Amino acid sequence: MSGNNPVTAGNAPWVRDPARFGRVAVLLGGSSSEREVSLDSGANILAALQRQGVDAFAIDGIPALVQAIAADRVDRVFNILHGTRGGGEDGVLQGLLAALSVPFTGAGVLGSALSMDKVRSKQVWQTLGLPTPAYRVIRAGDDIARAASQLGLPVIVKPAREGSSVGITRVHESADLVVAAELAARHDGTLLMEQLIQGDELTVAVLADRALPSIRIIPAGQWYDYHAKYLAEDTRYQCPALTGAEERAVGELALAACRALDVTGWGRVDIMRDRQGNNFLLEVNTAPGMTSHSLVPKAAATAGIDFDALCLQVLATSLAAETGGDRR
Ligand SMILES: Nc1ncnc2c1ncn2[C@@H]1O[C@H](COP(=O)(O)OP(=O)(O)O)[C@@H](O)[C@H]1O
Ligand SMILES: [Mg+2]
Repeated sequence: MSGNNPVTAGNAPWVRDPARFGRVAVLLGGSSSEREVSLDSGANILAALQRQGVDAFAIDGIPALVQAIAADRVDRVFNILHGTRGGGEDGVLQGLLAALSVPFTGAGVLGSALSMDKVRSKQVWQTLGLPTPAYRVIRAGDDIARAASQLGLPVIVKPAREGSSVGITRVHESADLVVAAELAARHDGTLLMEQLIQGDELTVAVLADRALPSIRIIPAGQWYDYHAKYLAEDTRYQCPALTGAEERAVGELALAACRALDVTGWGRVDIMRDRQGNNFLLEVNTAPGMTSHSLVPKAAATAGIDFDALCLQVLATSLAAETGGDRR
């Protein structure tokens, strides 16, 4: 699909006229630990929208956005802030925009807040019978050695609310538990200890309630850390990761994971697949990366959606909410 073709977003009307979107603030940067990634993603999106005749401009961070909205310069927000604690991806911004009746891309308050919290995401999935690795929540003073022995080594320790593999350690030996917990605790008070799933790392992008082809991530090093995500040129990707019924199943799982958390518009679901072929949900990203290394553009390309068309389709998902429909 080329960028000049019409785009659709669920129940939203077909869009042919870029003026239909009005003045679009591409909200990027901010002050979270993922600022640099967001600046990179946002610059790419801005260029793509402008190439297609959309009246788009960049806004760095939420305070600047509030000023622009007050000055009546914003009709719509393409949110590409990555981050927690009011950083743009956790529901706080979404509540602000909803209260001001400014349409925006991505999940609303509930979907954003639930997805940002890895523990509560897992609790919802478990309630619905959706697969996710066994886990323990670790709070200050808890006995981490006991939690690890209950789960069985190896485990992975991560902050309950972070992204970009920040603060995450794989623990194979109990002697390494304390260091892992200290590293993760630097980022967030609550820690998540999960059973380490050994097998393949998959991710599935969801766009307007449709699963795009899955991607298998094959890092050159041991795992998909910050370096492998954003810097390395030797991480390999296979898309689609699976075929036939297995590919359909992982797509359905990703859609179910999003529906469970009320994630609408677009998102990316991270999944581990063990050596027996069982899939486990890790997390949903509600403002996934759009850098040259990012995964959603790769999945879209395999589906025949180039980067420009992808940006326009994500933008079009903001129309569904505006027309009073379900955000999906
Ligand atoms: N339970 C797990 N088993 C195996 N690997 C994991 C597990 N949880 C996380 N990982 C690895 O750590 C990476 C980051 O974890 P994730 O939960 O997606 O957090 P985030 O991407 O927000 O930092 C994953 O992409 C995967 O490589
Ligand atoms: Mg992830």
